[in-house]
Amino acid sequence: MANPAKVEVDGKVFEFPVIEGTEGEKGIDVRDLRAKTGYITYDEAYGNTGSCQSKVTFIDGEKGILRYRGIPIEELAHGSTFVQTAYLLIFGKLPTEAERQHFSGLLTKYQMIHEDMKFHFEGFPSGAHPMAMLSAMINAAGCFIPEVMGRYDPAVFEHQAARLISQVRTLAAYAYRKSMGLPSIYPKRKYMYTENFLHMMFSEPDEDYHLNPAVVDALDLIFLLHADHEQNCSTSTVRMVASSKANLFASASAGVCALWGPLHGGANQAVIEMLEEIQIQGDDGSRFLERVKQKDGHAKLMGFGHRVYKNFDPRAQIIKKACDEMLGKLGIHDPLLDIALKLEATALKDPYFIERKLYPNVDFYSGIILKAIGIPTEMFTVIFAIGRMPGWIANYKEVAESGDSRIYRPRQIYQGPIQNPYVPIEQR
Ligand code: SDX
Repeated sequence: MANPAKVEVDGKVFEFPVIEGTEGEKGIDVRDLRAKTGYITYDEAYGNTGSCQSKVTFIDGEKGILRYRGIPIEELAHGSTFVQTAYLLIFGKLPTEAERQHFSGLLTKYQMIHEDMKFHFEGFPSGAHPMAMLSAMINAAGCFIPEVMGRYDPAVFEHQAARLISQVRTLAAYAYRKSMGLPSIYPKRKYMYTENFLHMMFSEPDEDYHLNPAVVDALDLIFLLHADHEQNCSTSTVRMVASSKANLFASASAGVCALWGPLHGGANQAVIEMLEEIQIQGDDGSRFLERVKQKDGHAKLMGFGHRVYKNFDPRAQIIKKACDEMLGKLGIHDPLLDIALKLEATALKDPYFIERKLYPNVDFYSGIILKAIGIPTEMFTVIFAIGRMPGWIANYKEVAESGDSRIYRPRQIYQGPIQNPYVPIEQR
């Protein structure tokens, strides 16, 4: 047990217990700080605040470590699949073959969405962003599942989790097809998870999409690498909503909205748009990097930097290698990759980025793979959402199952006008 922390305020010293994690992280337990001292803490953006104790994912930002339930991301990327990794995150262990078959069977069982959902899709304008559709349709899909609307029930949770993981890719593919004015393609039980998603995205009513193993493996790896990442913005949002006892689908829908932002999951779309702009300008990246360093118009090197990783993002290294391999197998040369490689090489030697500990993150190379597969830029963050779904579900489950979980309700430091009298409108 770590020694208590001492805090002195107004000449009095108060002691607060220190909580120590299994990987040695220490946190000062200030849950009774206000009751004892009358003070609250202030930590805008929560850079120094632990909102929960979790067993799902561990990150060491200084050492570039990422582990799902203790298993290094490098080993999962090499030896596992997205569905097995989803099972690991949600249920806390890798599935046996029998468990894998059972869970895979549930994903197949729940792959179809209710036929009436088509009417919801018809309601969107053709230019609607697929993230707006995805968030809305996850909540709409929950309305067709009465058990989802009830209180958390461990007896049916695996079915709800399977429905959400399975249907998020059906909803995503339908949103894409709707935005392209194409007919929806129903899932097929003969396809595995990622194969089925590509089938629903790119098959035609009269001809199935050709599933190139290099493409299937690369996309499955992208889903796996995005599956969880401790208390990032969207996962914290899911926990926040779950803390009010809202249902799983409502919490996931909120997670989609948080992920959409260009500083978070929207960065993969922003990276490609940045690379394309550099290409259009005939810039080799050096002019753009100067704009970033001058903070010209808030220009940022998208796909670089991270709140936690102050060294390399292990996912970025894995995706960069997968990108090279897939493009090589497909015989594709993408000039955007050349620009990205040059930006990375230049930034990693530039004091501006070195001093601020800015390195490529998971989003810097993922878009180049997705673009090579033929997934449109606007769908990139939807791909991130499909990948992150198991992490959101695992965190939702932790909140729902923790007996003492209280509704998340931060305090604030009020800086508004002090009390003044109400003035009737005739006197204003
Ligand atoms: C994801 O949290 C997660 O785990 C997220 C994620 C996950 O799996 O869930 O890993 C996924 O969201 C990855 C990040 C994707 N976002 C981007 O690539 C957008 C570009 N990156 C930045 O916006 C930024 O790095 C953040 C948002 C990722 C982190 O921001 P922080 O921690 O709030 O850092 P900061 O804004 O305080 O930056 C510190 C300094 C500032 O400069 P100074 O004011 O000190 O001069 O670094 C600069 C920033 O201006 N800076 C950048 C930069 N990122 C930070 N300068 C140029 N380009 C950048 N990308």
